[in-house]
Order: sequence, then C-alpha cells, then structure tokens
Amino acid sequence: MSRATIATIHLGALRRNLARVRELARGAKVMAVIKADGYGHGLERVARALVGADAYGVASLGDGLRLRAAGIITRIVVLSGPDAAADLAEFRRLRLDAVIHDESQLRWLEADHDARTLRVWLKIDTGMHRLGISQDEVPSTLARLRALANLDNADVVLMTHFAASDEFDNALTRRQIECFDDATAGIIGTRSLANSAGVLGWPAARGDWVRVGGLLYGLSVIDGKSGVDLGFEPAMTLSTKLVSVKTVRKGETIGYAASWQCPEDMPVGVAAIGYGDGYPRGVPSGTPVLVNGVRAAIVGRVSMDLIAIDLREAPGAAVGDRVVLWGKGLPVEQVAALAGTISYDLTCGMTKRVLFVEDDN
Ligand SMILES: Cc1ncc(COP(=O)(O)O)c(C=O)c1O
Repeated sequence: MSRATIATIHLGALRRNLARVRELARGAKVMAVIKADGYGHGLERVARALVGADAYGVASLGDGLRLRAAGIITRIVVLSGPDAAADLAEFRRLRLDAVIHDESQLRWLEADHDARTLRVWLKIDTGMHRLGISQDEVPSTLARLRALANLDNADVVLMTHFAASDEFDNALTRRQIECFDDATAGIIGTRSLANSAGVLGWPAARGDWVRVGGLLYGLSVIDGKSGVDLGFEPAMTLSTKLVSVKTVRKGETIGYAASWQCPEDMPVGVAAIGYGDGYPRGVPSGTPVLVNGVRAAIVGRVSMDLIAIDLREAPGAAVGDRVVLWGKGLPVEQVAALAGTISYDLTCGMTKRVLFVEDDN
C-alpha cells in the first residue's frame, strides 16, 4: 500500500520567515539553526532554501559533513563542538566552526598541532547549566585560546544560551544577560545570545549574531501563541487522505479501548496517519484536523497507522479527500498543546514512512 501521508515543505515560507527574522535582528547576523534535520524539515533542503543566512547552526560534525557533501559553502557552526580529539582534523577539513564549552575540548585543542587554523565560539554558562564554561573561567580560557597558534584568534565569538527567554519578563533571563555582560565586559569580540524567543522579546540580547531555529520554520515557543500569531508562516503542512467513510450508530464506540462513544448516528472517517508516522499518540478526542479545509475532530485513540474523525462538520467528505493534521490553516501549536508538548517536538518526530515533498511557495 502506498502511504498517503505527506509532509509538504513550503520553501517560500522558509525564505520569507528568514527575511522577517532579519528585520527583527536589526543588523545582527543571522545563524539559521538547522539541527535535528532542520527541525524535521530536512537538513539539506532547509539549508538550500535559507541560502541567505550568514551561518548554519548544527548539532554535530555529521550534520556539517552532510552539508558540505551537498555543496553548501556557507559558514557552519557545530553547536556542541568536537566530541573527541580526532574530530578536530575533520572540523578543519570541512571548515566548520567549533563551539568550545568544556575543559576536555580545550585540552584537545592544546594538544593539537595541526597548522591549519580553526574558528572557535566560546560558550559561557550564564544560568542554563547545560553547556558552557562558568563566568569565572572566561579570562583564563580566553587567554589559553589566544595562546594557540592553530586557532583563528581574530574572532573567538562569545556566546551563551537562554533557559527561559520565551517568558518576556523572566528574572532568570535578566540575570543571564547581566551575567554575560559581566563575564565579557572589556573583552573585544563578537557576541551571540539570542535564540528565537530572545529575538522576539529581549532586544538587549540581540548582540552581533542571533541564532534562530523555530521562527524560521514558523514555529512558536511562546505559550498560547502560534507562529502565525507572531507573523511567521508554517514551513510544514502534514496531510493525509481519508481511506474510509461510514456511518456509525449511536452508542457504538470508536477504536482501541473504546474510548469514544457516538452520541448519535454519525459519519466517521478514517485517515491514513498514526503514531507510526510520528503523529502524537497522546492527543485526546476533539483534537482538530482539517477535512477539505473544514475543521473536524479526531475521535477515539490514535493508533499506529490510522485515526478516526468525526465528519459531522464535513458531511460531504469522501474516501480520497485530503486531511490536514497541521500546517497551513491549522497551527501545529494547537496540536502540540493537546499532546502536552511543543511544536518543535512534533515537526522533529516525523518517521521514515512520511513522504516529504517540496512546494516552492
Ligand atoms: C545553542 C542554541 N542556539 C540557538 C538555538 C535555537 O533555538 P530556537 O529554535 O528556539 O530559536 C538552539 C536550539 O535549541 C540552541 O541549542
């Protein structure tokens, strides 16, 4: 059986979202964060669409390798840096920037005598307590980096990452900005603090480089707001087809665990998508979908390959009609909230059997 489940990637939306990020960045350089396979939209595809970005941010050396193999020549920053001393030669060969966040990486650099230079970003932990050196370690670490002949010392970019910038009046974010300013006071060099929410809500953190992921895909992390509410367009529409339409009698139940009961004789559609495609299993009855553009609701449990839909609002719907799960016309944030997660988690979660197609708009 050919699966009808399609993730349509809107390349024009990616381009327009980048242009909007540029406006908001007010002259700061834009790193397009395309880790996790471009937040599930496809690494090489997204890189090609966002060709105007000043750099790409990826999670690992492997992503950098894929991008260079695809002919991408733009600057690439590996956000967690080298995982082993042996990675350094690959960073140089592929001309990848390395984020240095840990003493172990510093030691690998110091032990490395390759004559080719490497570009480095220094990550400072200002309160997220994930990756980064502490504020106190900044002067000594910079001195050690600057003593290395095999680094491009002209510009070690100073960076940090926010834990809660999605709340625009958050005390931790204020403290993180203060900590970063203190840690880097008097140091000449380029600075990078803001992610998507930082760009939207923390102008003091704009710095020289913004590192933006979610907004480029039209995704929001601001509670209660969709990417569209923020002026961005969805870059992914997930859709499938109805494979069955029938009338189910009042009092009968739908699907596994018989969790939903028909209140009347009613049309029920079954669509070819389930958790085997990456659609979240945990969404409740009532979760919205669009059937031929009309809003309808999932009823019963999501199963591996199929969902059932209450078609009372779309009575003319027939087998073969298109069902949109999220994207244009139905913000992914609405589904994510019902699934108890964020939009990023859903777009990153598409499985191999979903067919990806590109739409130039
Ligand atoms: C270090 C770093 N910078 C920037 C980003 C982009 O974040 P967002 O997608 O919220 O813009 C990420 C993503 O998690 C990140 O890890």
